[in-house]
Amino acid sequence: MDTLIERAVSSVDPFSHAFLENPYPHHEAMREAGPVVRLERYGIWAMARHQEVRDALTDWQTYCSGAGVGLSDFRKEPPWRPPSIILEADPPLHTRTRAVLTRILSPAAINVLRERLVQEAEVLIGRLLEKREFDGIAELAEAYPLKVFPDSVGIAEEGRENLLRYGSMVFNGFGPRNDLFDKAMANAGPVRDWIMSKCSRAALAPDGLGMQIFRATDSGELSEAEAGMLVRSFLSAGVDTTVYGIGNALYCFANHPEQWTTLRENPSLMRLAFEEVLRFEAPVQTFFRTTTKAVDVGGVQIGEGEKVLLFLAAANRDPRRWERPDQFDVRRRATGHMTFGTGIHGCVGQAVARLEAEAVFGALAKRVAAFELTAEPTRRLNNTLRGLDSLPLRLVPA
Ligand code: HEM
Repeated sequence: MDTLIERAVSSVDPFSHAFLENPYPHHEAMREAGPVVRLERYGIWAMARHQEVRDALTDWQTYCSGAGVGLSDFRKEPPWRPPSIILEADPPLHTRTRAVLTRILSPAAINVLRERLVQEAEVLIGRLLEKREFDGIAELAEAYPLKVFPDSVGIAEEGRENLLRYGSMVFNGFGPRNDLFDKAMANAGPVRDWIMSKCSRAALAPDGLGMQIFRATDSGELSEAEAGMLVRSFLSAGVDTTVYGIGNALYCFANHPEQWTTLRENPSLMRLAFEEVLRFEAPVQTFFRTTTKAVDVGGVQIGEGEKVLLFLAAANRDPRRWERPDQFDVRRRATGHMTFGTGIHGCVGQAVARLEAEAVFGALAKRVAAFELTAEPTRRLNNTLRGLDSLPLRLVPA
């Protein structure tokens, strides 16, 4: 006999300012409400526990990406841009495009960039140490990725501020058409045109990651148009994510000086420490899936064609999975967090993100004893990302 389980229902708006300012109490409420919760405001489902989020991410046959990984269902309304041929695609298309990026972004391939990224970080940190006081977001968390990532892809210097504007469009675009969405899209035309102009073979340096994608057209793995779309994926997914990640790391170390000291005394903890930042203050908070068939989740029936909001950041603090989940602890084994996703769509750029973080925090660890906040940081709200608008800092030299 079937067991009927009362489904949990919530009226919370996960894209409201109040929620985005401080999502953690809401995450807890959703985790405790059940394995899956109906969010009646949007007529969608939400999962906030580690087990269910991971299970959904690893079952692409049931939870697909082809109908969009935001709130909008591409089968019902036209997307604001042509869908990504990797992020918003399912096998077999996804398998083919992913294979190309997996090769180009493998840890071994990315290691080639290490020397240059470390050197850029040391130059930047040297400059900031001379200044002593600065905005950790504009002058470090944004400045560093905006220099090294487009350099690595192989695009020209001029107009790079458009990368942040486009990132804001992409990540706010996964949410509902609220004020954050409208603000991000206000000047969409010129930003989109600039981005697309950088996605052609002619715009790319001969030795960068972008041109490596175009090389996959030689063997017939990709068409010319598909190669351009994958360069667009780099420019969409590779900038804001690391900006918010580095910014959140600075924020964590400024607020937990004893953790910075522990890290400086044990440089071998560097890798784990960044994973802990990603677990604790996830720069990417959520992604959606769409069900391809009816599915039973812990006794609750979800129908076919339903949108499911996966709270990566809530899974990261699920007490069923982590001890002392609300404590920031650089000694913790934080691997298994959901901030890079998992399964077939798990972040293909994670080696780049880790390398950037290691370069920046490695350079800081050598020369900076502590970070002092000189004023209250301010938040930059985003429908998908969590991070700061400003982080006024003073560096204490070692
Ligand atoms: C801290 C930094 C980053 C975070 C937190 C992050 C997070 C994520 C997450 C959660 C996904 C999975 C999306 C899903 O399952 O629907 C993803 C996918 C992806 N990421 Fe990242 N990312 C980061 C940096 C990067 C960088 C630097 C690049 C480019 C070099 C990149 C490129 C991509 C691409 C192309 C995908 C789509 C993969 C696929 O669908 O198979 N990401 N990322």
